[in-house]
Amino acid sequence: MTIKSVIQNYSKVKMAFTPTPIYKLSRLSSHLGHNIYIMRDDLTGFAIGGNKIRKLEYLIGDALKKKAQVLITSGATSFSRNAAAAGSAFGFDVHIFIVGDEAKQNSAGQVLFGLLDTKLHFIPEKKKETLVEEISKLKTLLEEKGQLVYELHPGGSDEIGTVSYINAFDEIIQFSRKNSIHFNTIIVTTGSAATQAGLVLGQCIEGYETTVLGMAIARPADFQKNRIQDLIERTAKMLGIRWDENKIMVDDRFIGPGYPLPSKESQEAMKIFASLEGVLLDAIYTGKSAAGLIHYASNGLFAKKDNILFIHTGGNFGMFY
Ligand SMILES: Cc1ncc(COP(=O)(O)O)c(C=O)c1O
Repeated sequence: MTIKSVIQNYSKVKMAFTPTPIYKLSRLSSHLGHNIYIMRDDLTGFAIGGNKIRKLEYLIGDALKKKAQVLITSGATSFSRNAAAAGSAFGFDVHIFIVGDEAKQNSAGQVLFGLLDTKLHFIPEKKKETLVEEISKLKTLLEEKGQLVYELHPGGSDEIGTVSYINAFDEIIQFSRKNSIHFNTIIVTTGSAATQAGLVLGQCIEGYETTVLGMAIARPADFQKNRIQDLIERTAKMLGIRWDENKIMVDDRFIGPGYPLPSKESQEAMKIFASLEGVLLDAIYTGKSAAGLIHYASNGLFAKKDNILFIHTGGNFGMFY
């Protein structure tokens, strides 16, 4: 069984510049005394980039296959902003529901929605429990007008979104083979879960021995593991494959004061990555997983000879939050 054979029937559009670069961070490696590599998924290159573009390649592919004309999602996030851009480029009307006050939105994010003519629906904080109902009302209304609606999970983390990171794992394997470098640990930021879920499934399909270690940015490890497990189970069922439950590893010690707040350690990690490697992280996603990486390397939690791969999932150094 190979990744290619398992996911070949899933439609995808082309947006990302892939394979994204994987290379050794030599100065960081000397600084930490370990072999640290990076996969630059921040450079996927469409709209504001990052891991969401990979997910959207498959989600838009699926929406087109289902002949949808409208996309609906929620949140003022990097996912919804990228979804607005991807939807627009592929000819969809895009509706986004945001809980909160219009006047208090991030101004860079609002400019982007404006450029893309995204249809925004604001729901006051005190009525946030009506979100699902409001989405469903709009869906019914559009469907009554004969439009086919495709609803996107707010982080792109459903079974189709997960396929994109199974595909990304194939890029890691190709790099490994071509360069004879085996990655003993792969570190990734984990939130809505599809990124880690896809990597774990990729590893299981190919039997690649590694530890995919998710650094949680919002939720306790047990909650996050369950979320990843649930998504893996659903995706494995859709693909008709088996996987290994013991492969889900999450560390929640680097969340700091909580989501979406920076931590002292994430800010320190941002400094180290920027000053040694010119790699820019953000303080609430990748800065926290990098803080975890630095902690592991500095406390003897990796073996000396190990190769560690850090996946930079994007985040635009916080510009759009
Ligand atoms: C920059 C960045 N990295 C990582 C993640 C986590 O990815 P996932 O939601 O697939 O777990 C997110 C999710 O919001 C993100 O914005």
